[in-house]
Amino acid sequence: MTETDRKPAVLIARRLLPAGADRLAARCELRQGGLNVTADELLALAPGVDAIVADPTVPVTEELLDAAGEGLDVVANYAVGYDNIDLDACRSRGVAVTNTPGVLTNATAELALALTLAAARLTNSAEAELRRGRWRGWDPGDMLGLELSGATFGIVGMGRIGRRYAELTSGFDGRIIYTGPTSKPEVDREFGARRVTLEELLGGSDVVSLHAPATPQTTHLISGPELEAMRPHAVLVNTSRGSLVDSEALGKALADATIGAAGLDVYESEPEVPKHLLEAPRCVLLPHIGSATTKARNAMASLAADNVLAVLDGAEPPNRVV
Ligand code: DGY
Repeated sequence: MTETDRKPAVLIARRLLPAGADRLAARCELRQGGLNVTADELLALAPGVDAIVADPTVPVTEELLDAAGEGLDVVANYAVGYDNIDLDACRSRGVAVTNTPGVLTNATAELALALTLAAARLTNSAEAELRRGRWRGWDPGDMLGLELSGATFGIVGMGRIGRRYAELTSGFDGRIIYTGPTSKPEVDREFGARRVTLEELLGGSDVVSLHAPATPQTTHLISGPELEAMRPHAVLVNTSRGSLVDSEALGKALADATIGAAGLDVYESEPEVPKHLLEAPRCVLLPHIGSATTKARNAMASLAADNVLAVLDGAEPPNRVV
């Protein structure tokens, strides 16, 4: 076989749904790590690949890039977030990096809304009590939650998902305030929203929902002092990345009733869920399912394949990060 006959090799680090994998398989040789792949197994699969499809659980390190070798053209992340990838290392090796924005916006904002409602109305604790056989009938003073109608929603990060969350929560006829590097006049106009400082947002919100990327600047953005600054009935929701919240401080804030409740989909060292959060009261915990709808995950898979195939064809990928 001549070099021109050679099919490009793509390493799917863990699992890519058929909506993307089948399209890659039609043109490429696929190597698949599988859901339980180890770092060593990935290093063994990498030599000679033209593309790597990674996901948020796969650290794309210098070591992996070097194991792939000089023929590596693209790392396509099967996610919108790309904090698992060493961007500088990709840049310096001339490797393109892509992600899958847009197609998971609705799914993730909807899950943030589900967590907001579940945490505000204590639905998980109420259901757990019922399942344990502890329900003794209607009780006027039991399981009293936070009513969201008229509430102030504080949105940290007014990107695509933050904006969709604003749109969904605008139905509660409350107020929307947000933080972010720039103000968004169209959001201000459409939802009567206002850009404020983080301090003002924390002190003025009934719900604080995090929609910012994981960067060194956002690590532990919400820690002890920020939780202290929140209202005692306020709900904290995190569907972005676990690193934004100091989970130990959050566990303590829930135990001390410094804040009202929390709804979390992401954790600092996934899949580990810190014991102090598992044991915390009024805390809804989900296993990173923000984008887990059939529609979103298929569209993400397809977009990841588009990105790989574009780079392999020498074209500009639709979602280049680097
Ligand atoms: C993302 O796309 O970054 C999500 O966290 C995956 O669900």
